[in-house]
Amino acid sequence: MKKFNVGIIGCGAIANQYIKNAKEVYSDYFTITALGDLRIENAQKYAEQYEIEKFGPPEMVYDDPTIDLIINLTVPMVHEEVTVRALEAGKHVYTEKPLACSREGMKHILEVSKKTGKRVGCAPDSFMSAPAQTAKKALEDDWIGAPIGANAICAMRGNEYWRPDADFFYQKGAGPMMDMAPYYLNSFISLLGPVDSVMTMSKITWPERTIKVPPRRGEKIQVEVPTYVSSIMRFQNGVIATFVNSFDIWKTTSPYIEIYGEKGTMVIPDPNRYKGDVLIRRFKDSEFHVLPQFIEYATYGRGIGVVDMIRSIDADVPHRASAEMAYHATDVILAMDEAGESHKELKIESTAEQPSGLWNTPETILWK
Ligand SMILES: NC(=O)c1ccc[n+]([C@@H]2O[C@H](COP(=O)([O-])OP(=O)(O)OC[C@H]3O[C@@H](n4cnc5c(N)ncnc54)[C@H](O)[C@@H]3O)[C@@H](O)[C@H]2O)c1
Repeated sequence: MKKFNVGIIGCGAIANQYIKNAKEVYSDYFTITALGDLRIENAQKYAEQYEIEKFGPPEMVYDDPTIDLIINLTVPMVHEEVTVRALEAGKHVYTEKPLACSREGMKHILEVSKKTGKRVGCAPDSFMSAPAQTAKKALEDDWIGAPIGANAICAMRGNEYWRPDADFFYQKGAGPMMDMAPYYLNSFISLLGPVDSVMTMSKITWPERTIKVPPRRGEKIQVEVPTYVSSIMRFQNGVIATFVNSFDIWKTTSPYIEIYGEKGTMVIPDPNRYKGDVLIRRFKDSEFHVLPQFIEYATYGRGIGVVDMIRSIDADVPHRASAEMAYHATDVILAMDEAGESHKELKIESTAEQPSGLWNTPETILWK
């Protein structure tokens, strides 16, 4: 199959993982050939570190005729603008989450993708990690029987404890919901299918936060979005899940995700990571035990969604981290925000195909 030339737009914190993994794990599928950023020094830093020849302003990447696909690693507020610009330049796009910050923005992206015939994929791709796929396979092979309910918690205390630039995390477009919920929603959609309705209670616990680290230690941040959000989801298959998502919690002993089946319970590790044990306890088991993982590539991380997209373009089949799945996940997240204000159960208008397990794509590093 054709190896893709890939450009990155947005060379901040997370770009490091993408560039490193592209070199070390995914080099059979794509090569990062150009880096673009409004702050050229950010692109230059990675270009020098990873010996990438081309770097410069974003236009350099959009206008490069040798590039097949652009990875959009800019901040969420400009995801729509950058993704649309890249599609119009004739490139496929894989973007970090969220797809866009509003339903209108996401619809715009889907329209331009359709018009240009170029594909859009969207992170998080951690639902394709070894533990997440192990859990999916066990579920589909009936290890815990038909799922009845689920429980998830994302417990964090706030980025101002380690990031001096934490302001963004408390503004509209971020908060625990837009920043962290995509990991949980993608996992849930992969494991249980699309969501039918949601109910939520939420609050802004502290309207003002204080940055704890230099050089801005002591500066105040105004909080625009709820930081304690407790939701209930009903899935189209009838499963009911509770989901607590917060930037107010010091620590918890609760598992990240649990699924309760008619024959047993499964515990799934952090959906924001690519490692960890899946635990299972079935009728008559005296304790939880670790499920063996099927995938030999324990080191892979962000970027597997890009590989799956490139393979799927080559094979002319749908890719798993699709724009439709990202639209549905973000639609649910926005509905949780709205339900927190209206105190009503809200029907989810969008839906998405449940992505198939990676074991259905044979002969690939995705599943060995
Ligand atoms: N940092 C993380 O741990 C992390 C983890 C997973 C996902 N993400 C997601 O990755 C994305 C980027 O996050 P980050 O932490 O790397 O952000 P960042 O602020 O560190 O980097 C963003 C970069 O994008 C550049 N940029 C902004 N607007 C641009 C534009 N219009 N054109 C070109 N470049 C532009 C900035 O100059 C900056 O270099 C976000 O969507 C975030 O949700 C981040």
